[in-house]
Amino acid sequence: MTIEKTTVRIPGLTKRYTFCHISDVHVAYARPDEPKEAREMAEKHAQRWSPNGILPVDALDAALNHADRIHADGVFLCGDCADYLSDGTAAYLHDRIARTETEVFFVCGNHEGGDYYKKVEDLRVCYPVYADLMYGSPAFWVRDMGEFLIIGMDDSDKNIRREQISALEEQLERGKPIVLLIHIPVYTAAIDPPVRTQWGPGGCDYFTLGLPHDPPLSREFCKLLSQKDNNIAAIFAGHIHLAHEGEFAPGKMQYTSAPTFTGYLREVTLEG
Ligand SMILES: [Fe+2]
Ligand SMILES: [Fe+2]
Repeated sequence: MTIEKTTVRIPGLTKRYTFCHISDVHVAYARPDEPKEAREMAEKHAQRWSPNGILPVDALDAALNHADRIHADGVFLCGDCADYLSDGTAAYLHDRIARTETEVFFVCGNHEGGDYYKKVEDLRVCYPVYADLMYGSPAFWVRDMGEFLIIGMDDSDKNIRREQISALEEQLERGKPIVLLIHIPVYTAAIDPPVRTQWGPGGCDYFTLGLPHDPPLSREFCKLLSQKDNNIAAIFAGHIHLAHEGEFAPGKMQYTSAPTFTGYLREVTLEG
């Protein structure tokens, strides 16, 4: 496993906290009793997401075992943990996460509700399947860690809703530092060059949020995050399949994890 260590300073914290930031595991799994097509599809996709010869399920194991071993305060699982919506994959992930001693903070990616072979009208179709991993509220959830808040927001269809913005504004009012988990990273000057290099000149259109063609509320959300002096201390995301860190506001960093199917994990220390 490749472990990248990152320290985030959050003024006011009196303790040190360690989190494991992972994303884009792209697990595809079918139980032995599922129909042949389901098993073949899972096998095909598991191979597809094993460029380094590590199966996604093994990469997930390694990451969660590492979190347990170091007694992390939590795992930031920033989306695309599943490769597509299926019973076998969802059951597998629930079981694996339940066997993890460390608390896992889960947000949806565009793959949790995705289907390679059918058009999905609304990616939120996966909400009932994964809601229990997100305090029953996949669009927006809050976990109060005492000295700071961890907030998970679903931005995986690039369509932020008014209720999500209102919920975030309400939490910003509380005055506690916020660690925000999303799937699609916010567009920034810093993220532009690496995304272009990896995904081509139009890469940021698909892989980031907040460009002029994105819906007005999504742009409003990004603007809110970049406002000077708000309480958003750090953003953790995935989706671009690249490890990146760059400012989303002066002195405040957004991090994306390289895909965990490659055996990558970011070990994050939060301290005052
Ligand atoms: Fe992904
Ligand atoms: Fe994604």
